[in-house]
Amino acid sequence: MTKRGVRFECSLLAGLALTGLALTPSATATEKVAISIDASKAGVQINRNIFGQFAEHLGHGIYDGIWVGPDSTIPNTRGIRNDVVAALKAIKVPNVRWPGGCFADEYHWRKGVGIQRTVSLNPNWGGVTETNTFGTHEFMDFVDQIGSDAYVSINVGSGTPQEAAEWLEYMTTAQPTTLEKERAANGHPAPYKISMLGIGNESWDCGGNMTPEYYLSQMKIYSRFVRNFNPAQQDKEQMLKIAVGPGGDEPRWTDWTETVMKAYQQHTWSWDINGLSMHSYTVGHWPSSSASVGFGETEYSQILKHTLEMDALISKHSAIMDKYDPQKRVALIIDEWGAWYAPLPGSNPGFLVQQNTLRDAILAALNLNIFARHADRVRGANIAQMINVLQAMIMTDKEKMVLSPTYYIFKMYVPFQDSTFLPVQFNSGTYSHDGISLPRVDAIAAEGKDGKLWVAFTNLDPNEAVEIELNVTGVTAKSTSGETLTASKVDSTNSFDAPNIVVPKPISAKAQGGKLTLKLDPKSVSVVSVE
Ligand code: AHR
Repeated sequence: MTKRGVRFECSLLAGLALTGLALTPSATATEKVAISIDASKAGVQINRNIFGQFAEHLGHGIYDGIWVGPDSTIPNTRGIRNDVVAALKAIKVPNVRWPGGCFADEYHWRKGVGIQRTVSLNPNWGGVTETNTFGTHEFMDFVDQIGSDAYVSINVGSGTPQEAAEWLEYMTTAQPTTLEKERAANGHPAPYKISMLGIGNESWDCGGNMTPEYYLSQMKIYSRFVRNFNPAQQDKEQMLKIAVGPGGDEPRWTDWTETVMKAYQQHTWSWDINGLSMHSYTVGHWPSSSASVGFGETEYSQILKHTLEMDALISKHSAIMDKYDPQKRVALIIDEWGAWYAPLPGSNPGFLVQQNTLRDAILAALNLNIFARHADRVRGANIAQMINVLQAMIMTDKEKMVLSPTYYIFKMYVPFQDSTFLPVQFNSGTYSHDGISLPRVDAIAAEGKDGKLWVAFTNLDPNEAVEIELNVTGVTAKSTSGETLTASKVDSTNSFDAPNIVVPKPISAKAQGGKLTLKLDPKSVSVVSVE
């Protein structure tokens, strides 16, 4: 086990102890795993925003993925693909972060409104032309069509506070200003609702290579002057302002969180933030060389080990935030996360195209479980990215569309949106392969908004099934039913020609002798409700 691995296991233990979950490496592959849930110990809300998505002007994320234009033969509504909208509605996407990413810090909103659009360049992502056909109105139409909220990232890198302030006035004012009239003339008289505002993106790197102190001085200015004027968002549903936060585990990012949060503790009436962003990809090593498909059990275990480091990273930055904000007013928003693999051979490397396999579904479930266990601080997250880029929900090719294994995890986890966290006790056991040790089982539980008790189980072991013995304190459970996601190989995937290789199947169990037992297939994720 590497030094890195040792550090991960210690911090995971610490994190799990806090949530009432016990990880002891004694259970073996043949033992049953006893899981108990105390339904009387309701915790905090699992904010639906942890199921957010990220859609950047990158490769075919927007163009072809969402936007085909009103004249396309692909069925669309005002230029937006109907098949994609239907698929996204089904996973109840709570918010979409747009227009980037690195793209956001070079984005000038005026190029993307009105009849005459400016054709510019996208130097970050393949150096291709950017038609700006998909701009503010198209994005807001898209989030409206899928029933989601807008998380807009403003340009702090190459823009100005005035440009950003005018964009917000354009989008949100109901007063008869020149910008309001321009918006109405462009087709939208009513003010738009902007739920979240990202003040910059990765300002320590592609967003302008700023020091934490320099970023802080900029962020205060943007926080002060970039206002949301929507009358419906003044007292309630106020726009959340998200500051740039850390990008990993290095000391420079510890300094970054310290600097921003220390300033927050002293903040005056004239500026405020409601969230601190964090970016953390499961990558192994930069530049990513891991194959997204055509790998074996060793690569499966390595990637899952890396992804579980998310828990320690959140704990580390949460601890700094607790020092300056013990009341947890500032949320930690993991607004870029997911697997980042080597580009698919033959694809444009600037388009970040990769396959999505059963491993990614398991990876997604493990991260969502981590976010849920940190729900008191983690109140938002955006997987990177929504369509055709990195760990995508959806892949398109002209008129074809396929849903990825990760998509199905987001679908199965819908009952956890705005649910109430319930502590889960179990002995996870250990799955070991090629010197890598991982917990064999993971689980979270919550009381859904529907009043039902929901449990999500992951069996990380790709070879052995696990028998679960479920005990819910204070509840005489009679049965469980739900869905399970697995496939024959760790790198099984869905394709345009074979879209149903990794799709959820029903799973159920009845009580026997007063106990509920459930068999989890190897390398599977299951979400069930307990009756
Ligand atoms: O998601 C791709 C890129 O990764 C984003 O543009 C950037 O913010 C991050 O480095």
